[in-house]
Amino acid sequence: MTEYEKKITIIKPDDWHVHLRDNKILKKVINYTGKFYARALIMPNLDDPITNCFKSISYRNRILKSMNWNYKFQPLMTCYLTDRTIPEELEIGFLKKIFIAAKLYPYCSTTNSKKGVKKISHITHILERMEKIGMPLLIHGEEVNKSIDIYDREAEFIKNTLDPLRNCFPKLKIVLEHITTKESVEYIKKYGSNYLCATITPHHLILNRNDMFSGGIQPYLYCLPILKKNIHQKALRQAIASGNKHFFLGSDTAPHLHKDKINFFGCAGIFNAPSSLLSYVTIFEEMQALKYLQSFCSENGPKFYNLPINKETITLIKKPLKIKKRISVGNNIIIPFLSGKILNWSLEN
Ligand code: DOR
Ligand code: ZN
Repeated sequence: MTEYEKKITIIKPDDWHVHLRDNKILKKVINYTGKFYARALIMPNLDDPITNCFKSISYRNRILKSMNWNYKFQPLMTCYLTDRTIPEELEIGFLKKIFIAAKLYPYCSTTNSKKGVKKISHITHILERMEKIGMPLLIHGEEVNKSIDIYDREAEFIKNTLDPLRNCFPKLKIVLEHITTKESVEYIKKYGSNYLCATITPHHLILNRNDMFSGGIQPYLYCLPILKKNIHQKALRQAIASGNKHFFLGSDTAPHLHKDKINFFGCAGIFNAPSSLLSYVTIFEEMQALKYLQSFCSENGPKFYNLPINKETITLIKKPLKIKKRISVGNNIIIPFLSGKILNWSLEN
């Protein structure tokens, strides 16, 4: 990594957690990810989730067709686990590289998770197979239950589900996605390995739960897992600044139309693709940890997934950049994270 006074060049990063949706939205959002990242792990929670090889191949083709061909970008696909996933289908998909990983959404935990897994015990045979073939399991780690406070969902999941699961399947490769609490940071620091890593989003690093209610309710800051207290935000910031190799970049960029964000039952999700990499560099700079920017963005993820590190580089320059206020999608709009705000960093050229 070369770092001049106002420029920083790193190996081109990958985003290990991206929602692209489909059709009109896909066409509008894909190039924001393609501009900054060489590869992205594509989440399978479409309205009709990606539950088999056939759906995955056709979704990947739609993604590639929607791309700006100036970008060399590779979408890496994931399979949505249900109580009915067929282990053979998963294995064939993994061996043929149709799927890079499979995603566990606990039932009704977030957007489009109604077909998610109702009980971990329903997929024991699937986890066994994944462990055997070395297929990574991506986890939305929240225990959703009326008796559990929304702010405790992640810590309860670790205690009641993740820890027992790791004991049963010690060689299963797991990513605890978009961690938000100091409990998760401590857990990864203690047990992080080539079998257990975590991703961290820019919004959970920049914000805490006060921001959701500052000056009135802010539907655009509603995401899941929900923003937590500042002590948790601090723990996440310290985790990335420590250079620990078991944390890596996963933005959880999750576009929703404006009408759906401000609806009576507003959707969870923050569309951060236009600013995610620029936000990460800002945070690493604030934490005086720029020396770890490249490993977090470009090295730790591929190492976990046993994929080559990208050959190209990207140069970020300390020059103000205004984030677009809105992006039109047909008769609707999407409002990006940090809409209209000025960031300190931009992409060279
Ligand atoms: O805020 C979120 N939005 N969290 C998720 O887990 C899903 C995502 C989405 O798909 O909108
Ligand atoms: Zn997500």
